[in-house]
Amino acid sequence: MLNKLKRILVNDIGIDLGTMNTLVWVAGEGIVLEEPSYVAINADTNKVRAVGADAKKLMAMTAERIKVIRPMREGVIADAEVTDEMLRIFIRKASGHFKIMQPRVLIAVPSGITEVGVRAVQESAMRAGARVVRLVEEPFASALGVGLPVEDPDGNMIVDIGGGTTEVAIISAGSIVSCQSVKYGGDAMDNAIIQFMLKKHQLQIGPRTAENIKINIGSAYELPEKLSMEVKGLDMGRQGDRLPRAVVIDSDEVREALSDPISNMLRAIRKAIDQCPPEIAARLLDTGITMAGGGSLLRGLDKLITENTGLHAVVGPEPLHAVVNGTGMLLDNARQLFSQPQNTLIGHGARE
Ligand SMILES: Nc1ncnc2c1ncn2[C@@H]1O[C@H](COP(=O)(O)OP(=O)(O)OP(=O)(O)O)[C@@H](O)[C@H]1O
Ligand SMILES: [Mg+2]
Repeated sequence: MLNKLKRILVNDIGIDLGTMNTLVWVAGEGIVLEEPSYVAINADTNKVRAVGADAKKLMAMTAERIKVIRPMREGVIADAEVTDEMLRIFIRKASGHFKIMQPRVLIAVPSGITEVGVRAVQESAMRAGARVVRLVEEPFASALGVGLPVEDPDGNMIVDIGGGTTEVAIISAGSIVSCQSVKYGGDAMDNAIIQFMLKKHQLQIGPRTAENIKINIGSAYELPEKLSMEVKGLDMGRQGDRLPRAVVIDSDEVREALSDPISNMLRAIRKAIDQCPPEIAARLLDTGITMAGGGSLLRGLDKLITENTGLHAVVGPEPLHAVVNGTGMLLDNARQLFSQPQNTLIGHGARE
């Protein structure tokens, strides 16, 4: 009875507000929502028509006057009004209609976030119906979520490769001791593929085709067996009318296309190690690097990072759920969490 009452009264949720995907954790339940961070807007009335997966589906329906927007870019809010609306709908959907209290909300934000960015997220969540908002640094939540012992004085390293950003952090004794946040993630890989197809094959393709190529045959390290696929797009090479054309590309080409964004990620990883106190850095030889985020699933990226740093890199469990699982773990201690000052950034430590 008491538990049931508590479930109705207490309404604590954790949110991974990602560039590509938004996930919501409800305390006592777990992950209740996992949707693409898309909003479809009626171009005539400016009203929201759909959010999440429903909005993403509408992207293909060009006949209707609908604008499909991704309000988060490079890990931060790019369109405040649309983000408010998306958060409001996701929070309502996740916390159910029967709750008496407005929810207390924990949101993960990129470690490179500015003060203005922090306020934007807090205010957006309040407008979307939160009673209290606290923020946690995304790589800290991700490290918790993959099960790293963040309270250990030993250094533990997490690399979270999302759609908009790559977050690198070395954590010791409960806080981040060195971190890097760069605007190179899955989106940058997709863009690199678009540019490559244009330059090498004079073929114009869209972001969804680019993402498909990356997921189907993309790699960061030479594959034991070459993969290939047919790609359709618009021929840009001919004079006059542009016509559809198909070409076959292989994994070696895609790896070449991805080399720039991947070099930038590797540079961020090495910089975080370089700026870490030496005793902690030395311990990384034993603890290695744990990877998370959708981008960590790129073939051979673990191998390339291992070769490039000399530290053993592995993809952690549930890489796409790491951040939201981490917020869920922090909500286990909700009383302590929400009693911290409003401007606390959980996990926050040294930064450049
Ligand atoms: N198998 C795969 N191989 C390569 N990339 C993948 C794979 N699966 C998903 N991705 C990429 O992972 C990215 C999404 O990852 P994720 O959901 O962690 O991002 P996000 O948390 O929304 O973004 P951010 O943390 O930057 O705000 C997309 O760019 C997607 O294309
Ligand atoms: Mg993320």
